Amino acid sequence: MIGLQWGDEAKGKIVDLLTENHDIVVRYQGGANAGHTVVTGGQTYKLSLIPSGILNPKVQNVITGGVVLNPPSILAEIDGLLARNVRIDRNMTISDRAHVIFPWHLEEDRLTEARKNTSGEAIGTTQRGIGPCYRDKVGRTNAFRLGDLFRPNFAERVRMVAAEKNVLLKTIAPAGQGPQLDAEQIVKDYTTYGERLKPFVGDTTAFLLDAVDADRRMLFEGAQGALLDVDHGTYPYVTSSNSSGVGISSGSGVPGSFYKRIIGVVKAYGTRVGGGPFPTEQDNEIGQHLRDLGNEYGTVTRRPRRCGWFDAVAARYTVRLSGVTTLAVMLLDVLSEVPEIQVCTAYEINGKRVETFPSHVDDLRDARPIYTTFPGWQTDISKITRWTDLPENAQAYIAGLGKILGRPVEITSVGPDRAATMFAPNASWAPPTFLAQ
Ligand code: GDP
Ligand code: IMO
Ligand code: MG
Repeated sequence: MIGLQWGDEAKGKIVDLLTENHDIVVRYQGGANAGHTVVTGGQTYKLSLIPSGILNPKVQNVITGGVVLNPPSILAEIDGLLARNVRIDRNMTISDRAHVIFPWHLEEDRLTEARKNTSGEAIGTTQRGIGPCYRDKVGRTNAFRLGDLFRPNFAERVRMVAAEKNVLLKTIAPAGQGPQLDAEQIVKDYTTYGERLKPFVGDTTAFLLDAVDADRRMLFEGAQGALLDVDHGTYPYVTSSNSSGVGISSGSGVPGSFYKRIIGVVKAYGTRVGGGPFPTEQDNEIGQHLRDLGNEYGTVTRRPRRCGWFDAVAARYTVRLSGVTTLAVMLLDVLSEVPEIQVCTAYEINGKRVETFPSHVDDLRDARPIYTTFPGWQTDISKITRWTDLPENAQAYIAGLGKILGRPVEITSVGPDRAATMFAPNASWAPPTFLAQ
């Protein structure tokens, strides 16, 4: 399951819905930059590093080596869920290959963003140390995998890396005032974190490959969205992992030939948090209306999300890039009061009509959207549970999106709760609770 826009497509809800049909739920990239909301039984859960399958006690939850993990963040998340009586014990495994975020990564992220902000080049990151940690992973010499916390040379390596990082922090901070990190304290803290995390740590690649052989049903929970993919997204305004479909296999170790279905999740309109071009952005009362009705404020940072119309040029690209076979259209209810709904079906760039997604961010910045208009329905649809009960214009909008994107829309969502979901009548793979409808 992949988000096809710039994140926050309501992936958490989809994972929660589909968990009952699976044995294993896998988070395979990203880190605590993700905030996945699940509303169930009148309770709201905001999951960050822990797979959204954790709310179903029968499912095995796996965090693979493609994830970057901040130990205090995940421990706080575990404690928060335990306090709400969510089961977390042997039903969760964390890869010993997952890369570890250290205080220097958080400082690098914060200081770099502050410095670039003054020159207007900030990415608008979540400041969770994601980029700096992935940078060290690729650079190799200063990186720590979770398994490294339990090796005899751990303290010695922390001292060595911390000394280098203190020089770096001084350089990137204004007027050489960079914070200086205490290596001994970090060794102490991370040794304690390691002791708590140890029962969860294992070789998830081996576990998942065995699960493939045993024909166990797996659900891969993408974080972020395909347009934030480091290789194929709106670079450099992206995250530092492969958040499109191409990342499933590199992040998890499970080859693509084993995937049965790729669900592309989209909002019925567009949002983006942080910097970077967003051709269909409505920085006006329409955008504010969507933000108000969709409660479009970041799950992780509470930043107001930028809002706009559905960009089908971008989504057509990410549908193909991620190998999507079926679509879930979320937050349809948010459009209920809009008299006319716009969908961007082409761009005009330098006076030319373009239907393909540009590879360079400057071209995307220059893109003027060309819209197709759909009539609104202007009635409350948030209580509807059957596809056939949706107003005609709402059905036409969903069918229109499916047609433009070239894939069937098999899930439509009209509210945060599990119940506010419709599966297409011919979606035989729907969970039993929905098939019964
Ligand atoms: P994720 O990161 O993709 O899991 O998405 P987020 O959790 O960050 O943001 C999606 C938000 O939309 C959450 O607050 C959900 O509870 C909410 N949501 C999910 N589906 C619907 C829907 O169909 N309608 C409305 N109004 N809200 C929804
Ligand atoms: P979920 O999984 C929306 C955005 C940040 C910023 C850019 C880089 O909840 O959909 P990073 O901290 O990753 O270096 O930030 O990516 N971003 C997200 N936007 N949803 C997310 O996750 C995001 N994770 C990162 O706002 O623009
Ligand atoms: Mg989110």
